[in-house]
Amino acid sequence: MKKKRIAILGSTGSIGVNALKVIAAHPDRFEVVLLAAHNSVNLIRSQIRQYAPKFVAMASVHLPQLKKDHSRVKFFDAQRDLPELVSRADIDVVVIAMTGAAALEPFLAAVRAGKKVAPANKEALVMAGDILMEAARRSGSVIVPVDSEQSAIFQCLEGRNTQDLHQIHLTASGGALRCLPRMKHDQVSVKDILAHPRWKMGAKITVDSATLMNKGFEVIEAQRLFGVGVDKINVLIHPEAIIHSMVEFIDGSIIAQLGVTDMRLPIQYALTYPERLPMPLKRLDLVQLKALTFEAPDLKKFPSLKLAYAAARQAGTAPTVLNAADEIAVEAFLKGKIKFTGIHSVVERTLSKHVNVPRPGLLDIKYADGWARQKAQEIVERVS
Ligand SMILES: NC(=O)c1ccc[n+]([C@@H]2O[C@H](COP(=O)([O-])OP(=O)(O)OC[C@H]3O[C@@H](n4cnc5c(N)ncnc54)[C@H](OP(=O)(O)O)[C@@H]3O)[C@@H](O)[C@H]2O)c1
Repeated sequence: MKKKRIAILGSTGSIGVNALKVIAAHPDRFEVVLLAAHNSVNLIRSQIRQYAPKFVAMASVHLPQLKKDHSRVKFFDAQRDLPELVSRADIDVVVIAMTGAAALEPFLAAVRAGKKVAPANKEALVMAGDILMEAARRSGSVIVPVDSEQSAIFQCLEGRNTQDLHQIHLTASGGALRCLPRMKHDQVSVKDILAHPRWKMGAKITVDSATLMNKGFEVIEAQRLFGVGVDKINVLIHPEAIIHSMVEFIDGSIIAQLGVTDMRLPIQYALTYPERLPMPLKRLDLVQLKALTFEAPDLKKFPSLKLAYAAARQAGTAPTVLNAADEIAVEAFLKGKIKFTGIHSVVERTLSKHVNVPRPGLLDIKYADGWARQKAQEIVERVS
């Protein structure tokens, strides 16, 4: 069997490392061609030794030393060269596991080149999902999401007619502050937030899970990936994080995808789709599960989710601004510049100053992204 040739953008992050574990478990199925990261030099060195990629892209400052030490590998500048690299003919699947808006250009290039794309990154879909999906329709690129909720929806919808869809139930574990009253939210520290109860993830997404902005992004992501109106996407708090999302049809039937909370499951599915392979993980023990519980999200306690719904309804450049302002605000919180509750204020104030552009092109999106970062930064400086 011909091996699938894989590129992993963000190989040193939480998703990237898990993707490499999946690949290591099936050496007869996959071959790593390209690894890309930013600053984690020691980890990329050990990944080069273990997976022998042909190409590696990193921040340019690290390239001279890496080139000296690994003469068999061709090195590239991640910021400049990723769009060209992912379009290469010797790459079959591109895993987008890097954080932030920087993923947009390589994501779009991979889609335009007709690759199978496995995005964990949600920022690019939030910023420019319509452009990415339209490019995929034109090129025939297949997008199989890695984000566990989107993977669940993808699996529940497979082979079904989306016209029969009544609504999507997008589940959320509830984040680190689910049980803490709103009045105490401004006292929580970065350390409190990073102790996420269910999933082990990178810092940015863990903070977004605590504000529920992550769920808001997923609402927009689902809207784009599955072509569903935002009012058909219902967020449900499900603390056990066993059901990764559900799809309800017009006849009242609900189909759910369940699994252990391990990202290797959706990553492997995205890599092997439409096939499935065995997975050496502990299985879900249904008898041990005492109960699966659900509650409606408290939008007063988690106003960022409400803000994300509003941006989704507004469409145009509003989701781009939401994403960019959130990136700046979360970074400021992680650096101790603003309080946890300041994240919402920065995003809300940035959005309130934005003049929305309906049906934006790529240039409008880039402009809105840059504008929002600058505006959010100004607001951070004023409140810190
Ligand atoms: N973790 C999860 O369980 C999870 C679940 C669903 C969706 N996601 C999404 O998946 C993405 C990655 O999340 P994560 O938790 O894996 O993040 P993470 O642990 O913080 O890792 C981020 C990765 O992106 C790389 N990176 C950052 N900027 C880059 C750039 N400009 N060029 C190339 N590489 C760059 C980092 O490289 P360095 O290490 O070298 O800095 C690292 O490899 C995010 O968009 C997140 O929302 C994550």
